[in-house]
Parts: sequence; C-alpha cells; structure tokens
Amino acid sequence: MSTTSPLEQVPTLANDLLRVEEQLQSAVATDNELLQDIAAHLISAGGKRVRPGFCITASAAASQDFTPTELDVILGAVAVELVHQGSLYHDDVMDSAETRRTVESVNSKWGNHQAILAGDFLLGRASEIAASLGVEVAGLLASTISQLCDGQVRELEYVYRIDRTEESYLKSIDGKTASLLAAACRIGGIVGGIERDRIDHLTTFGRAYGMAFQVIDDILDLTATDEELGKPAGNDMIEGVYTLPVIRAMAHGEVGPSLQQLLGRPIDTTARDEARELVRSSGALKSAHADARRYADQANDALRSFADTAGGSALKAAADHLVDKVEKLIV
Ligand code: IPE
Ligand code: MG
Ligand code: MG
Repeated sequence: MSTTSPLEQVPTLANDLLRVEEQLQSAVATDNELLQDIAAHLISAGGKRVRPGFCITASAAASQDFTPTELDVILGAVAVELVHQGSLYHDDVMDSAETRRTVESVNSKWGNHQAILAGDFLLGRASEIAASLGVEVAGLLASTISQLCDGQVRELEYVYRIDRTEESYLKSIDGKTASLLAAACRIGGIVGGIERDRIDHLTTFGRAYGMAFQVIDDILDLTATDEELGKPAGNDMIEGVYTLPVIRAMAHGEVGPSLQQLLGRPIDTTARDEARELVRSSGALKSAHADARRYADQANDALRSFADTAGGSALKAAADHLVDKVEKLIV
C-alpha cells in the first residue's frame, strides 16, 4: 500500500515517513522477544500511514515554506499511528479476522490473548511517547483512546440489528475513526506551534475528513474485491455491522423489506452477495457517497485560513482525492 499521494506535495514528507518507520520500530523494542515480534508484526506489514501523514502535514500548515520537520512532530505522528495499530489488533480479535494488510492477522498467528496484550502494549507505548510531548498531547491522546472505545461499543450495541439508525452509525464512526484523525491533525498543530484558533480549524478538518474516510471505507467493503482491500470484502454485513449504505437500503421502499428479511442474523457468502446486490440496486451507495463528499467539503471549508500554505493545500487535495477515487466505483 502506498502513502496518500496528494500529501506528497509536502517535500519533506517522504523522508519524514522514513523517520516515522524508524521510530515505530524503536517504540516496540523490548527485551521480551516474543512481545516485540508480536508488536512489530503489523508495523512491518506496512499500511498507508494516513494518520502520521496528516500529523506531519498539519504541523506544516502554518507557513508557506517548508522547514525540516522537528523530532517532536515525528514522535506525535508515531504516537497516533501506535494507537491506530493497537486498535487494529483489538479489532481483528473482535472480528476473528484472518488477514490484515494482506498478511496473517496477529490473532490468527499468535492467538487472541496475545493480540489483546500486544495491542495494549502498543497503546502503552503510544502513551509514553505522548507524555514526552507534554500534558496537553498526553491528555488528548488519552481521551482519543476513550473515544475509540466508545465508538466501538456503540457499533457492538447494534450488531445484527436491522433497526440501527443513521444517527447511531454516525456517532459510532465519529468515535471509532474520526476522533483519531482529528487528534492526528490537532497534535500536529500543537507540536508544530500553530496558533490556537487555527489548531481548532485543523481539528475540525481532521474530524470531517475522518467521517468521509469511514463512509468511503464502508462503501468499499460493499464494492471492492478481497484483493483490493487486503482482507475479505463484504465482511461488515457478515459480521452484522450495518453501515450507512445498508441502513439506507433497508429504508428503501422497494428493496428495503427483502434486505431486512435477509439480514438481522449471521449470513453465508451467498446471502451476502444477494444482500450486496440489493444494496447496489437501491441507489444507497450513490447516496452514501454524496454524504462522503459533503464531509470532504466540510473538511476543506475548515482549511480556509490555510489556503496559502503548502501544508493546507496538501490536506485539501487529500480530502478531494479520497472521495474522487471512489466515485467511479459506484454504478
Ligand atoms: C483502517 O484504517 C481502519 C479504519 C479506520 C477504516 P486504514 O485504512 O488507515 O488502515 P491502514 O493503516 O492503511 O492499514
Ligand atoms: Mg471491526
Ligand atoms: Mg471496514
């Protein structure tokens, strides 16, 4: 998987992300060899590093020129990525996932207990790094971890429930995804020394981008192939997680009742394919995409005061790129 390409407008970014990789490996170093192997597994498997990219780019949104990125910004990016990774370890246990980022999942390779503990270890390391960046960053990272849990529990509450509402879905993705992207941008702003009111704009950007990001991820689960995702496609419906397009399709006058009949319980891959077809035919993918576009527009509005900065225009390009690339997948 490659870096979010529009951020490559930031001339220091490629090198900064190499620094992030080195610091990620150092962060999981311990004399406990087994723990280190488990904790390094997904880091070594790659990933798009969206959150570190945003943290670094947000820190560069203050001025027109790029200066070498401070070590503290790199460490902020690493703390955020470690929280993301820790949440993936736990997510794969909850979903009994066998693959992640095209490699065997941690739970499948070592077991659930090991995956839970190594995920906790990553959160612990992230907290240590955040504490080294000051009380504000430490508090922000801690409250973000709480929000991730809140969002995940809200998702669990509605598993296999065909009465899941759009409102409940939106609250859940705000916690489980948007809060961490908001924190990535906010930490970049704080550590990068950006003025207070402008830090709030970066945070608003991150949150709205995060909402668009998750809606797109949920659309892709219904449209992409296993190969494109690096994990099994259509898994959300199998797991009973009914996302925005599915909630909308269930409310559709014609296909809604058939879809509701099919869902509400564990299903096999044949029923999943049938359900995917119903969602597609309802127009709900298109309508969910329009929501993603609206969040991306909100994200871009928050960047108004950064229009003349290279960091600001790179963030804006990233939001446009996210929704543009999915548009052609929806027929
Ligand atoms: C996946 O995040 C989990 C979501 C919040 C949608 P990413 O798509 O950023 O995963 P990696 O880090 O690139 O593997
Ligand atoms: Mg999950
Ligand atoms: Mg998904």
